[in-house]
Parts: sequence; structure tokens; C-alpha cells
Amino acid sequence: MAVLVTGGTGYIGSHTVVELLNEGKEVIIADNFSNSKTEVLDAIEKITGKRPRIYNIDCRSAESLEKIFEENHIDSVINFAGYKAVGESVKLPLKYYNNNLFEAVTLLEVMQKFNCKKFIFSSSATIYGDPGVPEYVEEMGRGKTSNPYGTTKAMIEQILEDLYFSDNSWNICILRYFNPIGAHESGMLGENPNGIPNNLMPYIMKVASGKLEKLNIFGNDYDTKDGTGMRDYLHVVDLAEGHVKALDKLDKEDSGLFIYNLGTGTPYSVLDIVTTFEKVNNIKIPYEIVPRRPGDLAIYYANCKKANEELGWVAKKGIEDMCRDSWNFEKNLQ
Ligand code: NAD
Ligand code: UFG
Repeated sequence: MAVLVTGGTGYIGSHTVVELLNEGKEVIIADNFSNSKTEVLDAIEKITGKRPRIYNIDCRSAESLEKIFEENHIDSVINFAGYKAVGESVKLPLKYYNNNLFEAVTLLEVMQKFNCKKFIFSSSATIYGDPGVPEYVEEMGRGKTSNPYGTTKAMIEQILEDLYFSDNSWNICILRYFNPIGAHESGMLGENPNGIPNNLMPYIMKVASGKLEKLNIFGNDYDTKDGTGMRDYLHVVDLAEGHVKALDKLDKEDSGLFIYNLGTGTPYSVLDIVTTFEKVNNIKIPYEIVPRRPGDLAIYYANCKKANEELGWVAKKGIEDMCRDSWNFEKNLQ
């Protein structure tokens, strides 16, 4: 009985594979390495002592997915595969709709064919849109998304609801992540985007390592404690553990459609992250305040009560751990 992890060599997928292997689960990975490197498999092996079987496939190919189900006894699927760059999705919407939607639908069709109905999906806080309050609760439902990437997440959530409605023997968990940052404490796994990063922590990392001159802080005139944007950052290892807990939940249930926010519940500002990074790593991060980035909200964070109560999951690591572990990984890339 194995767990199929699509996108399992990516940032969140690789950390989740480690946690699953540490729990003694058998893991099969499907990834086309469009945004990851094969060396991730060596890191997973060094950390866990186990090397999961890997299929280098595009998950939009039903034929390739079917081969995995024919050759293994897949009991559940965690679906990380997809594109995730917000800005690129605005420029290339079809690329995002094609990859994210076809991948999810094809995978679900193949699962249905093999009568495998336990599914965990990587969704995002972005599906809430702009609900007008900073604390997001699952019951609020989906709002108007601000970019095609976010729309793919909202559409896949809808597809999963429709699927469950049509056949309530499915056992589905939608996890809405807030802002994952940090890296594995070994320093061997982390986030290493190609090109100039869009997200805050990867950008800070490139400034810290001297590859970029300074951080641009997008606005200091928001209605927040110091005027910079506030987010609910969570450590990627905590997030990975959330997937293990979600799988445990599905293992206990016969069927259902469950939705959980995964965050810490505590927002931090851009300046909080910069000053904490400087303090724990003893590195100066030069920055400049520049105009707001279109589409950004001032502040939002997760209400995590449901995940705490129903999954028994709580984020344990703080922003100091996130800043230290991120840098520990980046240093190893030098
Ligand atoms: P990532 O890009 O590091 O990992 C995605 C992996 O999927 C990569 O290894 C890539 O090679 C693979 N992939 C993409 N398309 C594929 C395809 N068609 N077939 C096979 N493999 C494919 O991203 P991540 O940060 O680990 O995110 C994982 C999931 O979580 C994504 O679905 C993302 O949208 C979602 N998510 C991420 C964040 C975040 O801030 N990182 C927040 C919310 C949701
Ligand atoms: N920021 C800067 N400078 C930068 C990058 C970011 O000041 O160079 C600020 C942003 O304005 C924001 C905060 O840092 O206030 C966080 O920005 P990120 O780009 O790191 O993250 P976002 O909150 O914009 O979005 C991320 C993912 C989305 C996902 C969302 C879920 O990129 O895909 O988290 O909460 F949907």
C-alpha cells in the first residue's frame, strides 16, 4: 500500500515525502522535474535512509499515470504537481490552466479507474479572494481570485466538490496553505526557484547571499503595525506534517470532503521577517521601500482551529526557525 506523491521532488512535496517516509509509509513519486532537480532524491535518501521510487512523467498523461497504478498498489494520492508563480500566470494564463487543471482532472480520472479514492490537494489561501476581514475561516468559502494561478486552485476545489457530490465514496482533503517558508533542518532540502524570486523569503535569501543587491519592500503605507504587508508564514516542515495528519484522518474515515487551513494563526510583517532574519543569521538585509505590488492585501492569516481539532495538527516552529533554516539551506547552495 503506497502513497503516490505527485510533484514530490518540489519544495513542499519533498519535505512531505521525508515526513511520510519517517512515518514508515511507502512512497512513490511522480514528477516531470519542470521545477525541481533530481538531486532532491539524493537528499531525501540521505535524510531518511530510503529512496522512493520515482516516475519521471508528466502527470497530464493518463497513460503514464496508469502505468504507476498498474505497477504499484496505490492507496492514496497527494497532489502537489502544478505551476505556482502568480506573476507568470497573469502573463501566461493558458500555461497555468493547461497544466494545473488537466493534471488534476487526468489524475482523478485515473484514480477513479483504479478505484483509488483517497486524495489530498494543495490549495491556497489565495482562494479566499478579499473577504474584507483578515482572519480566514474555512466556512467563508471561495472569493474572487486575483490571478489565473489562484483561479486554478479555486476551480480544482470546485471540481473536487462536484466529484464528491457525484460519488460520495471519495475521501478527499483540501489543504489551504498560507505562506510556507523555511527549509529542512538538515539544510539539504529547501526552496530554490529559478531566476529572480517573486516571493519574500526566496528574495531575501538572494540578497543575503549577495546575488541581489537589496530587497524591495512593496509598500509601507498599509494599515498594519509598521505599514508593511502582514502574512501568516509557516514552516514547510510543519506544513509537511500537516499532510501526514491529513492522510491519517482520511485513513480513519470511510469517505468525506474535508477542508483545512494550514497556517500558524499569527501574522508577521515584511519588516518582522527582515529584522528576524538579520538577528538570527547575523546578516544585514539592505532594503528599499517601493510602491505597493498590485493585488497584494494588507494583512491576512489563518484561523487554524479546525485543523487543530480535527487533525490534531498545530504548527510548532516560529519565524526564527523559518529564517534560520531558510538560510542554512541557501548557504549550502553557495
Ligand atoms: P514546486 O514548484 O516546488 O513543486 C511542484 C512540483 O510539481 C515540481 O517538482 C514540478 O516539477 C512538478 N510538476 C509541475 N507540473 C507537473 C506535471 N504536469 N507533471 C509532473 N510534475 C509536475 O511548488 P511547491 O511550492 O512545492 O508547491 C506544491 C503545491 O502547493 C503546488 O500545487 C502549489 O500551487 C501549492 N501551493 C504552494 C504554495 C507556496 O507558497 N509554495 C502556497 C499554496 C499552495
Ligand atoms: N514582498 C515584498 N517584497 C518582495 C516580495 C514580497 O515586500 O520582493 C511582500 C509582499 O508585498 C507581501 C509579503 O511580502 O506583503 C509576502 O509576499 P509573497 O510574494 O512571499 O507571498 P504572497 O502572500 O503574495 O503569496 C503567497 C504565494 C501565493 C499564495 C499565497 C497564499 O505566492 O501563491 O502566498 O497565502 F497563494
